[in-house]
Amino acid sequence: MEQQRFGELSSDKESNARANFFELFKNCPIPDNELLANLGLFIKRQSLSRILFMHDLYKKILPIHGNVIEFGCRWGQNLALFSACRGMYEPFNYCRKIIGFDTFEGFPSVCAKDGTSEYAKKGTYKVTAGYADFLNKVLAYHEEESPVSHIKKFELVKGDASVEIEKYLKDNPETIVAMAYFDFDIYEPTKTCLNAIKGHLTKGSVIGFDELNCKDFPGETLAVKEVFGLDKYSIRHDPNSPSPSYIVIE
Ligand SMILES: C[S@@+](CC[C@H](N)C(=O)[O-])C[C@H]1O[C@@H](n2cnc3c(N)ncnc32)[C@H](O)[C@@H]1O
Repeated sequence: MEQQRFGELSSDKESNARANFFELFKNCPIPDNELLANLGLFIKRQSLSRILFMHDLYKKILPIHGNVIEFGCRWGQNLALFSACRGMYEPFNYCRKIIGFDTFEGFPSVCAKDGTSEYAKKGTYKVTAGYADFLNKVLAYHEEESPVSHIKKFELVKGDASVEIEKYLKDNPETIVAMAYFDFDIYEPTKTCLNAIKGHLTKGSVIGFDELNCKDFPGETLAVKEVFGLDKYSIRHDPNSPSPSYIVIE
């Protein structure tokens, strides 16, 4: 999650401007009944780039059968975006489930391969208490607004994904992964989950990564290197977003 990493990538001037802008946002005079329809007013270029990147990834898997999984969903924005994409592009595809894995308590642990940055520690990226329940309600609302809303098509898997992924795939052996987005940032769960889903990919499946070639989080690249090899696939990135990248299984 490069652009929002606690703000340290910003200059002082940018930080001040952002603080002032946040005040404007907090004091927004738009009435409640028009607020959600006008959120674009507050979306910065960097956030829009990421949203468009997720949209572009989703479009790549339209002809590919299977589910969308985000490994490390945190506040869950990408899950909501993928759900909106399904509603727009394939509203009747009740077979495309959207699944988010997270501890909702931040990193459960880190290892030597995660380097020495100040973020490489237990608990980084934890969310507020009860957040998974809140996110469930948000995603349920989005589903309600889409066709075939009586079939539940999203799932949050709470806990250490290194453990939960085996259980999930054992309980759901029919799983085909059309898209996986890896945003754990760290080595161990990335490697375990990459290995676990390998046999569930098909030609055309897209695997996105948030932190490849990232100095603060070397573990994600090391995991990909060990599972796939860096030279086996072309690791592409979107020119509008510096951090995220993806491969297409060929
Ligand atoms: C950078 S945040 C994800 C940000 C999110 N994808 C977004 O775009 O806003 C990394 C997330 O990975 C989760 N995480 C890291 N290791 C995990 C593990 N072993 N099991 C489950 N979740 C894990 C953390 O709890 C954290 O929420």
